[in-house]
Amino acid sequence: MASIPLQQADIREVAVVGLGTMGSGIAEILARSGRSVVVTEVNHDALARGLATLHASLDKAVARGRLTAADKAMVVARIRAADNLAAGAAAADLVIEAVPERMELKRAVFGELDLACRPDTILATNTSSLSVTALAASIRHPNRVAGLHFFNPAPVMKLVEVVSTVLTAPGTSEALAGLVRALGKTPVQVSDRAGFVVNPLLLAYLNHAVCLLEAGHATSEDIDKAATSGVGLPMGPLALLDLIGLDTSLSTLEALQAEFGGSRFTPAPLLRRLAEAGLTGRKAGRGFYEYQHQSVHAARADDPIHHAASQPPARVLLIENGAATPAADLTSAITAAGIEVVRPPAGGADLVLVAASPARRVLDAALASGRPADAVGIHLVGPHGAGPALAELIVTHLTKASVTAAAAALAAKLGLDPVTARDRPGFLTAALTYPHLNDAATMVQDGYATAADIDTAMMLGCGYPRGPLEMLDDISPAVVLRVLTAMHASSGDPAFAPAPLLAEHAAAGTRFRG
Ligand code: 3HC
Repeated sequence: MASIPLQQADIREVAVVGLGTMGSGIAEILARSGRSVVVTEVNHDALARGLATLHASLDKAVARGRLTAADKAMVVARIRAADNLAAGAAAADLVIEAVPERMELKRAVFGELDLACRPDTILATNTSSLSVTALAASIRHPNRVAGLHFFNPAPVMKLVEVVSTVLTAPGTSEALAGLVRALGKTPVQVSDRAGFVVNPLLLAYLNHAVCLLEAGHATSEDIDKAATSGVGLPMGPLALLDLIGLDTSLSTLEALQAEFGGSRFTPAPLLRRLAEAGLTGRKAGRGFYEYQHQSVHAARADDPIHHAASQPPARVLLIENGAATPAADLTSAITAAGIEVVRPPAGGADLVLVAASPARRVLDAALASGRPADAVGIHLVGPHGAGPALAELIVTHLTKASVTAAAAALAAKLGLDPVTARDRPGFLTAALTYPHLNDAATMVQDGYATAADIDTAMMLGCGYPRGPLEMLDDISPAVVLRVLTAMHASSGDPAFAPAPLLAEHAAAGTRFRG
């Protein structure tokens, strides 16, 4: 007989199974909301580590004046550890499973919960990509099973995806959405598809960042700067992978690839190797970066040009090559910095600067100048509505290292942060992010979520200042289409094929967000 799902207000005792990064954050939020929380872990060491993470997070909140010491003591008093899963979950109104992303583990947990819990206890999984439906179908009363997908760090990120399967009772997802609101977060109701809204978009983008690093397209720090200073995202993709955990990211990608196929989810070999080596990110002290005594630095050797101290040139030959920043603007900025700018056919300059467009190859203009070894492309980028913050310096295979260093010194003199990238369509910021915007367009096209829901999910789940479709509209569908078309033609990778819906908006001059 089908059980009757509980209401949100009936959820007073919650069991959290698995006290890793996510489980400890989820337990903290629930206890801070006044609910009793029972936590279980596989062994004593894992439990001790999880509780230490939880206590450290509460201590941070006290140190920042967000929680009094007395309140902290009350929160701690609401949390108890159970020796085994069945004993811990027996009296719970809601169980949230947050064990590692392995189906056999999750099935085993659900099997035990099926026997131990009341039939009306809601069973939720925090899976990031596995089938909630398969878990529900493996137990009795599948109508009380749903996904409850939190984002890392769980105490901070405002989004929770509430995932309903075809078997979920409407009352179950309503109770969970109500609980999410009572926790001060925003629920987004979605159907059961691998990764839901956020992860297929986020993980494809993070994986692509690793591919760019692995291909030597740019350094880890420059890739991350492109996302933060170039686009305004709160973290760079490689730093974010270290936060999420490279092992979790790898298993999420594998689940996404099993569901959707295609090269966007094929884990970058470097990501797999780092995870295999146990260099899983912050929790291991090393991933793409090393985390030691509060300091963070790149775990891989940096591009030598960042260390090569250089003087800016006295005279620059500026060549126009379809740049987004007109050569006239660049000329006045460079001249204002006290550097002489000459235009072709004048000679005698120390540096040939190509005012570059991300849909055009710098090499052609460099060759046409007759001095390709002295030529560097320059492309200015910054978050929408703010001035340029980054100078992308585009090096061809002929550019001399000393010339790139001189161009970096020039950029610094203009008050811009220099990043270097190879001469490939999209350069750095667009090469990193336009495929991500295209993925969001594809998700709208597939009818899985609306443009507004996708934007909300990425803003609340990943701290984006604006959602990807609003970003795409602001850049303009036509510009994004042009760059993606060039990326697709140059790489031959179907992952960069522009979404037909993007091409339609570009042709009609319309926007995704109306
Ligand atoms: N636990 C608890 N609180 C934390 C925390 C943590 N691990 N990390 C940061 N905080 C709190 C701080 O205490 C601070 O709180 P306060 O405002 O009350 O004082 C607040 O968050 C801001 O922290 P900081 O000032 O130290 O740092 P930032 O301003 O740089 O923000 C950040 C840090 C919130 C992590 C921000 O960089 C961000 O939003 N990054 C994006 C994170 C993201 O994308 N998460 C989603 C990952 S995908 C996922 O989890 C799904 C999975 O299935 C893969």
